[in-house]
Amino acid sequence: MRVHVADHPLIAHKLTYLRDKRTDSPTFRRLAEELMTLLAYEATREVRVEPFEIETPVAPTTGIKLSNPKPLIVPILRAGLGMLEGMVRLLPSAEVGFLGMQRDEETLAITTYASRLPEDLTGRQVYVLDPMLATGGSMGDAIQFLVDRGASNITAVCLLAAPEGIATLQARLADIDPPVTLVTGSIDEKLNEHGYIVPGLGDAGDRLYGVV
Ligand code: PRP
Ligand code: URA
Repeated sequence: MRVHVADHPLIAHKLTYLRDKRTDSPTFRRLAEELMTLLAYEATREVRVEPFEIETPVAPTTGIKLSNPKPLIVPILRAGLGMLEGMVRLLPSAEVGFLGMQRDEETLAITTYASRLPEDLTGRQVYVLDPMLATGGSMGDAIQFLVDRGASNITAVCLLAAPEGIATLQARLADIDPPVTLVTGSIDEKLNEHGYIVPGLGDAGDRLYGVV
């Protein structure tokens, strides 16, 4: 797996307000979207494109357009939904599929409770969105799900990642070729004894959508 930390002062600035416990839910949602748009710029560096001819008012020239099939964006419900708008703003012609996953707060085990994705993902370029990479269980299961359906070019995007989760993904996804790319806004210090990222931002789903 290739890991890319999007090291940019605007990202660090927006992450600071996202982390702040005083930030209210409407502001948190706006920041999560804005951060995703900034990360999308990094995450789409290798988006598949092809040349085509156009004419400017002055002369013919060769431009590029997104190749078919268009990229597939997969937010992991719930919290990944908070990143979706920020991604489709840059890739409006992308298709969107959904994976619903929940982490047991005691055991940290992952349950997949929903999926709405094309059956056959052979050759598809896929962007998986989840704000938090903590133990890596949710992202690892999501990527395995996509690989089992044939996806061959996967980029995971998260706002914050824990070193423990990155190490787990590195080991679990070592055989995937081409390697998965992980783009993150920050690699934080560690996980605490409850599996929360430190310093992190708390529970991303709750801060976006309220406690359920
Ligand atoms: C959170 C978060 C990730 C997951 C990360 O989701 O949005 O999906 O935990 O933890 P992990 O790396 O240890 O798997 P949660 O299960 O709380 O669900 P939610 O998005 O519905 O709030
Ligand atoms: N999920 C979250 O929402 N926050 C964490 O810190 C870890 C997992």
